[in-house]
Amino acid sequence: MSGKIVNVAVVGAGVVGSSFMNQIIAMKSPITYSLIYVGEAENSLISKDYSPLKLDANWKDTLAKASDKTLTLPELIEFLKKSPKPTILVDNTSSAYISGFYPKIVEAGISIATPNKKAFSSDLATWKEIFAGRPTDGLVYHEATVGAGLPILSFLREIIQTGDEVEKIEGIFSGTLSYIFNEFSTIQPNDVKFSDIVKVAKELGYTEPDPRDDLNGLDVARKVTIVARISGLQVENPQSFPVQSLIPKPLESIESAAEFLEKLPEYDADLTKLKEEAAKEKKVLRFIGKVDVKTNTVSVGIEKYDYSHPFAALKGSDNVISIKTKRYTNPVVIQGAGAGADVTAAGILGDVIKIAQRL
Ligand SMILES: NC(=O)c1ccc[n+]([C@@H]2O[C@H](COP(=O)([O-])OP(=O)(O)OC[C@H]3O[C@@H](n4cnc5c(N)ncnc54)[C@H](OP(=O)(O)O)[C@@H]3O)[C@@H](O)[C@H]2O)c1
Repeated sequence: MSGKIVNVAVVGAGVVGSSFMNQIIAMKSPITYSLIYVGEAENSLISKDYSPLKLDANWKDTLAKASDKTLTLPELIEFLKKSPKPTILVDNTSSAYISGFYPKIVEAGISIATPNKKAFSSDLATWKEIFAGRPTDGLVYHEATVGAGLPILSFLREIIQTGDEVEKIEGIFSGTLSYIFNEFSTIQPNDVKFSDIVKVAKELGYTEPDPRDDLNGLDVARKVTIVARISGLQVENPQSFPVQSLIPKPLESIESAAEFLEKLPEYDADLTKLKEEAAKEKKVLRFIGKVDVKTNTVSVGIEKYDYSHPFAALKGSDNVISIKTKRYTNPVVIQGAGAGADVTAAGILGDVIKIAQRL
C-alpha cells in the first residue's frame, strides 16, 4: 500500500453509475479510494465526518435505505471543499445542471471524472473555464465522453503533449448509428429499409426512447466537438458546423416517438436511392464525424466508403475512429464497443486512477 488516500464522491447511480460503484468497491489498489458521498436524484449516503462509507457488494440496498436528502450542487461543493483529503467528484449523470457547475468545482480544487459530455460540448467559453489550468484547480478527465472506455481522448492528449499534431479525425462515434448503417448498407446487397432497421434498433434497446435523439446527429456532433477541441480547433459549439439530421423535416415536430416510427417508412425512398447509388460504385454508407485541422473544418453526416475501407467491414454497434497525425501518416485506427455499462464504467474508473496518481 502506498498510504495515499483519495476521497471520492459519486453522483448518479443509473446504468453506468451502478457498474462504476461495483467496480470501485471491488477494486484492489495501492491507493485507497474512500467513498464519502453517493447521491442519486432523491436520496444519498453522506459521510459527514469524511470517514469512508461502509459499502460492499450490497451498496444498492444500503443506498435505497438511505435517509439523507441529496445535496444541492452548491451544498455538495461546500461539503467537498472541506474534505481533509484530495477529492474526486464522479458525475455519472447526463445532467446539464450538474455539469454547469464544473468550472466552480474545478476552481474549488475538486477533481472531476465523468462520462457526461454536456459541459465539454457546450459553448467554448465553458471549455476554456474548465481547462483554465490554474495551479490550484482540480484535474478533469472525461475519457468516456467519446467512445465509452476506448482510449481515444487519452491517446490524443498524450500524442499532442509529445509534440505531434493531429491532422484529421474521421470516425463512427455513435453505437446506435453504427448498428443502423452496418445493417442498412452492406457489402452484400440487401433490400432492407432504413425505417425497418430503426425499429429493430429501438426494440433491441440501442436507441434512445425517442430514436430522433439519435437520428438528429447531435450526439455525434457533441463528441466531434470534443475531439476537435482537443486537436486544437476553436469549435464554438456543436451547432456551429454542418450536422446532417436523418429525421425527415415533416417528422421533426411530431409529438410521440410511436407516431414518428409509424410515419418513417413514407420517407425511405431517399436513403434507399443513396444506398443503391453507393452500391453501384462498390461503396457503403456510414454516418461519420469528421475533423480536418488543416482546413479548420468539422462536419457530421453520411459518407460513402469503398468496400475495402475498414469502416465498410464494421459489424454490430462498434465505434471506430481513425486518427491521422504529422507522425502517424498512416492513421491510427481505434475500434471497439463505444457503449455499454461495464466498459464505460471502466473508462471512468481509469480516469479516477489517473487523477489519484497525479494528486
Ligand atoms: N450507457 C452507456 O453505454 C454510456 C456510454 C458512454 C457514456 N455514457 C454517459 O454516461 C452517463 C450516464 O449514463 P447512464 O446510461 O448510466 O444513464 P442513466 O441510467 O439515466 O443514469 C443517470 C443517473 O443519474 C441520476 N441523476 C440525474 N440527476 C441527478 C442528480 N441531480 N443527482 C444525482 N443523480 C442524478 C439519475 O437518477 P434518476 O433516474 O432518479 O433521475 C440516474 O440514476 C451519461 O452522461 C451518458 O451520456 C453512457
